[in-house]
Amino acid sequence: MRRPIIAGNWKMNKTISEALGLVNEIKEEANKTDVEVVVCCPFTVISEVKKAIEGSKVKLGAQNMHWEDEGAFTGEISANMLKDLGVDYVIIGHSERRQYFNETDEIVNKKVIKAIEKGLNPIVCVGETLDEREKNRTFDVVKEQTLAAFRDVSNDGMKDVVIAYEPIWAIGTGKTASSQDANEVIAYIRSLLENKYGIEISEEVRIQYGGSVKPSNATEIMNETDIDGALVGGASLKAEEFLEIVNF
Ligand code: 13P
Repeated sequence: MRRPIIAGNWKMNKTISEALGLVNEIKEEANKTDVEVVVCCPFTVISEVKKAIEGSKVKLGAQNMHWEDEGAFTGEISANMLKDLGVDYVIIGHSERRQYFNETDEIVNKKVIKAIEKGLNPIVCVGETLDEREKNRTFDVVKEQTLAAFRDVSNDGMKDVVIAYEPIWAIGTGKTASSQDANEVIAYIRSLLENKYGIEISEEVRIQYGGSVKPSNATEIMNETDIDGALVGGASLKAEEFLEIVNF
């Protein structure tokens, strides 16, 4: 049985006081559920959020990291720095990073490898653009991105991984993939894992859906057989909405 995992991706939102307000509202409720609840915060609030969630079941996530251990990489944050702050999860290869910051499959792969090496759990994002979907390329694109992201990742390493299928056209647009369509792509990703790593790993790795998840569609999405959770953007910024999703 895969434990459901619902993660909020706050993106570039929340000052320290705003973040504390949000997380203090979330943590009580998160303690009552068996769903794994993660907040992926901006770097600047991680240390304060860490203190606020101490003793609660909320897990801490970051939204990006660099693949080198240290060095002359102005403005970047290393895996060791995240570990130092007590971070559990790190989003890697979000479409916004691929789109606006030129992250390639190769970079995503280096980051995934480094995160696993350092004991962080990567939440690895894959997903097609609208143009690719309209050209019936969804499965090809997702296959390419998935195989590239996990190049040279061992069976053991895969045990730390969460995958998020986020069709780019559904992010922040209010449009969601139908739950059946999302499930189909996610089942396909699972079949790719089975081919490469065998049935045990493929049945163990959790795969989330992301893209305009909100209280009104969370139940339907979470009821699908292969969807193990959600990566939530906009709706994770308000405690009430996020908690409704968590309590799908
Ligand atoms: P929205 O939920 O705002 O569509 O964002 C999804 C997302 O990108 C989560 O990583």
